[in-house]
Amino acid sequence: MKGVILAGGTGTRLYPLTRLINKHLLPVGDSPMICYGIERLRQAGITDIMLIISKQSAGLYTDFLGSGSSMGVRITYKIQEEAGGIAEALELAKGFITPRDRFVVLLGDNLFLDNLKPFVEKFQKQPYGTARVLLKRVNDPRRYGVPVFDKDNRKLISYIEEKPKQPKSNYCVTGIYMYDDQVFEHIAATEPSDRGELEITDVNNLYARESKLEYDILRRWWTDAGTFESLHDAARRMKGIRP
Ligand code: G1P
Repeated sequence: MKGVILAGGTGTRLYPLTRLINKHLLPVGDSPMICYGIERLRQAGITDIMLIISKQSAGLYTDFLGSGSSMGVRITYKIQEEAGGIAEALELAKGFITPRDRFVVLLGDNLFLDNLKPFVEKFQKQPYGTARVLLKRVNDPRRYGVPVFDKDNRKLISYIEEKPKQPKSNYCVTGIYMYDDQVFEHIAATEPSDRGELEITDVNNLYARESKLEYDILRRWWTDAGTFESLHDAARRMKGIRP
């Protein structure tokens, strides 16, 4: 198993902080945000990790993380020239993922306390060509991708609605996804959305449509630290926690 962390993007919701430094290098508790995702992967036994980063702060990533050896992992860096959506960023991992490889994708601003190992083990037992996403119960699902569960098969999601006005469940699809190399075919089959981006939800819905999207639910604390409010919440939760 490999890991891919998407850590590019412009982080406009965190201006002016992110005009100075890439979002995923902002301090959270005692460490830069990116460290938590790397550690969650390492904890699950995933040590071969690609970081997809923007040109902004690229030198800081390599200064700080180097080869990854100080964190017990091996890091490969890939530069995303321009922000164009999560699925477009993920496509950059294509050369890193060899045929029939399975991998975990993390959005670098997703911070959480669950150990991924049990979820990864379940994914490894799934048939080739299927995917798994992790969900979290939230108070404000309208901010996120929201799953609609399959009525006949409790294991499956039948589709995901991105930022729905009237969510059909109280769960959000977190930025923790598990795929094999077939995801790149699904990305290639995805059209840009109204905002001109390749949406990860559209990719996941290609799996859901074929009854190939399974899920687990995170039990412990989770946030996406993309806004000032959630960044401050994350800083409070992670205070004193070493990645
Ligand atoms: C993205 C996804 C959304 C998901 C969220 C989790 O949203 O599009 O489905 O629920 O990440 O962090 P964004 O944060 O880009 O608005």
